[in-house]
Amino acid sequence: MVESSESVMVIVVTPTYKRYTRVPDMIRMANTLAHVKNLYWIVIEDGNKTSQAVKDILDGTGLQYTYMAYPTAKGFPKKGWYQRTMALRFIRSNTEQIVGPSKNGVVYFGDDDNSYDIRLFTDYIMNVKKLGIWAVGYCGGSPVEAPNVTDGKVPSFNVQWSPKRVFAVDMAGFAVNLKVVLNSDAEFGTFCKRGTGAPETCLLEDMGLDRTDIEPFGWEGKEGQRKIYAWHTKTQPPYIKGKLETFGYQVEIE
Ligand code: UGA
Ligand code: MN
Repeated sequence: MVESSESVMVIVVTPTYKRYTRVPDMIRMANTLAHVKNLYWIVIEDGNKTSQAVKDILDGTGLQYTYMAYPTAKGFPKKGWYQRTMALRFIRSNTEQIVGPSKNGVVYFGDDDNSYDIRLFTDYIMNVKKLGIWAVGYCGGSPVEAPNVTDGKVPSFNVQWSPKRVFAVDMAGFAVNLKVVLNSDAEFGTFCKRGTGAPETCLLEDMGLDRTDIEPFGWEGKEGQRKIYAWHTKTQPPYIKGKLETFGYQVEIE
């Protein structure tokens, strides 16, 4: 039987933490994700408690979601690593609640500050059978980081920063099929030496993957016209001075 991609659940894992730009960042991301059918959003607050403002945004999407709070444990970088680990544990112990009995799903680690094209989810992520990889804009000190595709395979990566990593890819540049996640107990640890500090290659290698498993997306387009669907952006904090008066509006104060 051919499975239609309609029955594939896109599982997006997003660590988040309180800061001035978080609510607008999450609004932009929520507005994008709300367009995607079959999407389950796992949002993990780096803090002791969840935020009402974030919960209201999630409720507004109409998506299925789980929003939980886990402050970064001792020894972990304050960069969402621990929160993603808690999400992996949640996925493994609540698989059926998330995807139903089919177990068809793809896991994507989408940070709250990036910019995403809807087609990232509908054209790329939904179709990942094992490990999908694509270009990310404004990443690692480059205009774009991308897999180097030769004869449909990925023998190396077109990146400037730390190119020797087995998987020289940003978190926004890959997704793994749920089966890969369920067949391993890989988590984000407290450090990743092989990633020269970045966690991606450690996670993927610990999942038992190698470069021959890569399914590259988005590289076939014409020279100069290949599309980027994930951008590693960062929102500039606002300039706020004086009294932190909010006049009854829901504004998170740092
Ligand atoms: C870059 C990569 O794009 C990340 O995917 C990677 O995890 C990170 O580097 C890393 O070095 O480990 P960058 O843009 O520098 O990320 O970091 P942020 O976007 O500030 O943080 C990544 C995620 O963790 C975000 O979703 C953010 O909300 C969350 N975060 C950040 C927390 O939950 N707590 C924090 O204290 C900081
Ligand atoms: Mn970021």
